[in-house]
Amino acid sequence: MAKYNLPSGTVPRDVIHHDRYDMWRYAPLLPVMDSSHIISLGEGWTPLLSLRKTADKLGFRRLLLKEEGLNPTGSFKARGISMAVSKAVELGISSFSIPTAGNAGSALAAYCAAAACNAHIYMPEATPDVFRIDCQVMGATVTSVKGSIRDAGLAMAADNADGHWWDITTLKEPFRLEGKKTMGYEIAEQMGWSLPDVIIYPTGGGTGLIGMWKAFEEMKQMGWIDHIPTRMVAVQTEGCNPVVRAYREGLDHCVLYENPAETMANGLRVPKAFGDKLIMKTLHESGGTALDVTEEEMKRVIYDFGRTEGIFLSPEGAAVVSAFGKMVSSGDIRPQDTVVLINTGSPYKYVENLM
Ligand SMILES: Cc1ncc(COP(=O)(O)O)c(C=O)c1O
Repeated sequence: MAKYNLPSGTVPRDVIHHDRYDMWRYAPLLPVMDSSHIISLGEGWTPLLSLRKTADKLGFRRLLLKEEGLNPTGSFKARGISMAVSKAVELGISSFSIPTAGNAGSALAAYCAAAACNAHIYMPEATPDVFRIDCQVMGATVTSVKGSIRDAGLAMAADNADGHWWDITTLKEPFRLEGKKTMGYEIAEQMGWSLPDVIIYPTGGGTGLIGMWKAFEEMKQMGWIDHIPTRMVAVQTEGCNPVVRAYREGLDHCVLYENPAETMANGLRVPKAFGDKLIMKTLHESGGTALDVTEEEMKRVIYDFGRTEGIFLSPEGAAVVSAFGKMVSSGDIRPQDTVVLINTGSPYKYVENLM
């Protein structure tokens, strides 16, 4: 993980580019040195919506949803990939490869097209067709692989044995995390430079979770916030829950989840995250937790939430809202807590999973 030599307590918030309404408003805290290398399609600065009806029903003071489905290519993956491709352009790299559950592949294809670079994308056969088509439209080379994202990663590594492509598998390079951390800066800024008591995040490889926590630590070091009250919560599916199991067993790492079940939340089907220790460290340091949800629960929430709030959730977002409901029922979250739920993607690419 990249660390900056931040001068403690002395960096003014004015370093932010207040005239940019995308994640590059935080460019001074990101690793691209020359702004002419930035490859942007308008990622970030997504709305932090107030869930008034759900909050009123449950007696919550402040319940918020970060709507990441509005990012270019329809997910929060745009942040990390914009960052990684921009930095690569700065370093003179022009060929990339990635294993993906769908959204990261779409993002890589788009940003590579914008940067005139090559993208080699490996995705599980069970990925909805729209992701494959999306990548092909943007000129990427797509390989379908039997199995999970782990198998896609192994197939990619075999084809890239001599390293001719820059492998941007989640957390194998430092830059995607830097893009994802901008979610943490945005949440703080959109909340008037305060942080919520709880953030619930759908966890596959975990970059968003780790990235937001990194942002909070940087902000504290720079004196932008006084303290970090936030409990970070990881949500997975019952059919592939290595983080939840590790949390229950008090481990500092995850054990490979054999034969992960297919799920409508494709992004959560990660049998073992490369950054598992960082995920567990974040959960423990923040006093957070990990829990899982079923396919039926996600599906029910998609319909209930659509009718109540007028928001069509991605399956991963539905996992988050479902986990929120469970934590309210168990008393783990109380009405006086300020809670941010992250809807990481657009539902529209998953319509075939709902049919
Ligand atoms: C919509 C969506 N949400 C969540 C995730 C999980 O993200 P991460 O692997 O960064 O934990 C993914 C990953 O593909 C995704 O596409």
